[in-house]
Amino acid sequence: TKRWKITNETSEAQAAISEAASLLKKGETIAFPTETVYGLGADATNPEAVNKIFAAKGRPQDNPLIAHVATKEQLLRLVYNVPDYAAQLMDAFSPGPLTYVLKTSGVCADNVTAGQETIGVRMPSHPVAQALLKACDIPIAAPSANLSGKPSPTTAVHVWEDLQGKIAGVVDGGPTGFGVESTVLDCTQEIPVILRPGGVTKEQLTQIIGMVVTDPGLANSSEKPKAPGMKYRHYAPEVPLLLVYGTPKDVQATIDKAQAEGKKVGALVSDQTAAEITAFETIRLGKNLPEVAAHLYDGLRKFKTREVDVIVSEAFPEDGIGQAVMNRLRKAASKHIHMS
Ligand code: TXA
Ligand code: MG
Repeated sequence: TKRWKITNETSEAQAAISEAASLLKKGETIAFPTETVYGLGADATNPEAVNKIFAAKGRPQDNPLIAHVATKEQLLRLVYNVPDYAAQLMDAFSPGPLTYVLKTSGVCADNVTAGQETIGVRMPSHPVAQALLKACDIPIAAPSANLSGKPSPTTAVHVWEDLQGKIAGVVDGGPTGFGVESTVLDCTQEIPVILRPGGVTKEQLTQIIGMVVTDPGLANSSEKPKAPGMKYRHYAPEVPLLLVYGTPKDVQATIDKAQAEGKKVGALVSDQTAAEITAFETIRLGKNLPEVAAHLYDGLRKFKTREVDVIVSEAFPEDGIGQAVMNRLRKAASKHIHMS
């Protein structure tokens, strides 16, 4: 596995981008940064190349991939039946952390869409992702560059931990910005449906187009989520995670109870809550929701089995990017604790 470090727009950086792009065009897999998380890319028009993604991640074949492009023209070649509201959203949020699920034009290989009639398409805004996509000039299928089931990677080190030896290369562009994945929006309905909350918030979507609904399968365990990937557990840390809905005092009570059982507790909390609790080890995720989102996956990865026995996380407010944070924490949790 090759590794290129990109710090700024030097000629060295350009050489790295063109080397990575030529490997992609030859059917190899390359991990690269986006503004959300690192992606593991392959030529979306080449089924053998796409298969290498599934193999490296250990990803179930029934879980479709997002196709990434640099421009709106390229995006429109991959889909048809684009409703007016989707065109408006493209003007407002692309490039950016929004994925549109639309009818596939058939340009991408069948294993990208897992045989479905729809495809997820996205135009990332990260300068390294943009440069790479422009250099190879083909649609790139890219799920998050983690082993299936683990938290998504927000640094090249996370990618290296999971996929070293299994992929052709990693372009290291430093830590990603948002820290949670793109919002996946089903645009095949009269009213768009959020299949996965992410970088673009429901409030932001509503501001542009009015009506947006959230897939009931995300909240309701009796209904199956419409994004195939959302039915898997995902984002699992090495250690069991207790998610506490309550005040900092409730978080402390949960920590104390586990400690009384002889457990070493790792706490995953905001800076404000960190000031009010004590645990064996505390990871502070930040002072506001965007900071918490940016540090969440790194925090989940940091607690290792040999260091703590259980993670106690506070529940965060579900507004703005807090919806994505709580969606991921609920999936990562082994137990939910509701305090009155
Ligand atoms: O931010 C992101 O979206 C990152 C970066 C690399 O772009 N990518 C990412 O991909 O998170 P992945 O494969 O880890 O998650 C894609 C999600 C899955 O839950 C998948 O089931 C859903 O999108 N999805 C993809 N295509 C779909 C489709 N045609 N219909 C419904 N859901 C789809
Ligand atoms: Mg993923």
